[in-house]
Amino acid sequence: MDFNYTEEHLAVRDAARDFAERELLPGVIERDNQQKFPEQQVKMMGELGFMGMMVDPAYNGGGMDTVSYVLAMEEISKIDASAAVCMSVNNSLVCYGIQKYGSEMQKENYLKKLATGEVIGAFCLSEPEAGSDATSQRTTAEDKGDHYLINGTKNWITNGNTAGYYIVMAQTDQEKGYKGINALIVERSFEGITIGKKEDKLGIRGSDTHSIMFTNVKVPKENRIGEDGFGFKFAMNVLNGGRIGIASQALGIASGALEASLKYAKERKTFGVEIAKHQAIQFKLSEMAVKVEAARMLCLKAAKLKDEKKDYAKASAMAKLFASEAAMHNAIEAIQTHGGYGYVKEYHVERMLRDAKITQIYEGTSEIQKMVIARELLK
Ligand code: CAA
Repeated sequence: MDFNYTEEHLAVRDAARDFAERELLPGVIERDNQQKFPEQQVKMMGELGFMGMMVDPAYNGGGMDTVSYVLAMEEISKIDASAAVCMSVNNSLVCYGIQKYGSEMQKENYLKKLATGEVIGAFCLSEPEAGSDATSQRTTAEDKGDHYLINGTKNWITNGNTAGYYIVMAQTDQEKGYKGINALIVERSFEGITIGKKEDKLGIRGSDTHSIMFTNVKVPKENRIGEDGFGFKFAMNVLNGGRIGIASQALGIASGALEASLKYAKERKTFGVEIAKHQAIQFKLSEMAVKVEAARMLCLKAAKLKDEKKDYAKASAMAKLFASEAAMHNAIEAIQTHGGYGYVKEYHVERMLRDAKITQIYEGTSEIQKMVIARELLK
């Protein structure tokens, strides 16, 4: 597989890096402390084309490939993993889902606004009793002829209070099991939606995570994505791509931890020399660098397969499994490299550790990724 970047890839990567350093870095510690969503910065990300990167230009998107998306996600995530998850969900779960499976009306009415970041999207699959076991949907979408009536609660919804549009998975026909689940586009302004309190999280504290309650929410039938009963397959297919986004987020944390450590190791002196001269530190840096390189290759492989319209479920699960482990490893080693300074907020690496952990949980835990990989291996 050929990973020579085009000039466009490099331009996207550099633009994302510049933006992250200029606009995200200055307030990232404060936002983490205060659990403050990077509202202004996400708006700018929309203006710069980072919120609908792979969307067809006919629907206001950037028309870019998934490789560009991986590169941009890595750069944004290096600096601010909270802004990055907002970007990932909007791009790969919401925009991609509507672009690939939505109707013309849905693309005109919803995708065009999502692609520019004018409206942010959220993906509502998880429930209090349906996380990994996603077929066990309790939220119902009762078929009322020309509309559905949604009742139920969704949990841990990224962009929960920021989103203007939600894609909600809900059970229409219990007897059909997962084949009775539908995916519906729900506007925030529809009657009957209650946003729960913001979750007080370990990491990605700037991201906007809420539970959402739906009480007799009336959704027109034309807002259903795909055929009746396609909702679970929709969610699974879209998550295969979403996992490339989260893998790239984890890659960004892993490479951010390495970059911070390289910089610090050349500045900090102990025993009369820069700590970079100590073999104990060199070994850490080498191991971190290998993990970054391998995680990047896995992310790019999954992205390439997706761009080439080949099967990428196994590749994206592998990328997410490995990159999230790399993020945890590198964040811990970055703290160790920084010593006491690594344990305080000013040097960023303690936040990276807290942010890294979620990449092993959302969009399918590491254990779920192993299930996906094993199923593909044993086919
Ligand atoms: N790609 C495509 N189709 C898939 C698939 C995949 N990765 N995984 C399962 N399917 C299909 C199966 O082929 C099957 O269809 P057929 O019967 O037609 O073959 C159907 O889906 C049901 O699958 P299973 O029979 O395998 O169902 P299961 O209950 O045994 O396992 C699961 C399903 C793979 C564990 C699934 O529930 C799963 O992926 N769970 C994790 C859920 C998840 O990732 N949640 C993330 C929440 S969103 C989020 O985190 C966003 C955010 O805010 C950051």
